[in-house]
Amino acid sequence: MPDPLIVAAIKVRENAVATFSGFKVGAALQTDDGIVVTGCNIENATYGLTICAERVAVFKALSEGHRKFRRVAVVADTDQLTPPCGACRQILWEFGGNLEVILANLAGSEEHHHLQDLLPRPFDARLLRE
Ligand code: THU
Repeated sequence: MPDPLIVAAIKVRENAVATFSGFKVGAALQTDDGIVVTGCNIENATYGLTICAERVAVFKALSEGHRKFRRVAVVADTDQLTPPCGACRQILWEFGGNLEVILANLAGSEEHHHLQDLLPRPFDARLLRE
């Protein structure tokens, strides 16, 4: 039985606007009450305003009122599985905490990580209050 979170990330990846890199990524974020919110990467002509699939998923979820998350799946069509970039790790940590991070590709490979292993010693709001 395929993991529905990976299936959702594979599906939304098809919507990626990867006009300049051709590198399509899909992400699917599961809330603590089981709802799945998806995102794909969106590029534009300035390049620098590109937003990754993971951040699209997080911001969509937050704007729909979700605040607690359990897992995120990230899918690209690469042999070496694609982990979230540094900016996405920060956003995932601040809004999702120590999420389970599932990396997968179209060939059926998958890896499971926890965000604290991908982002050791994070900066977050707790440090602002010290
Ligand atoms: N990208 C993502 O969407 N997520 C990742 O985890 C890695 C990179 C996007 C950004 C850009 O549109 C393209 O992949 C190439 O970097």
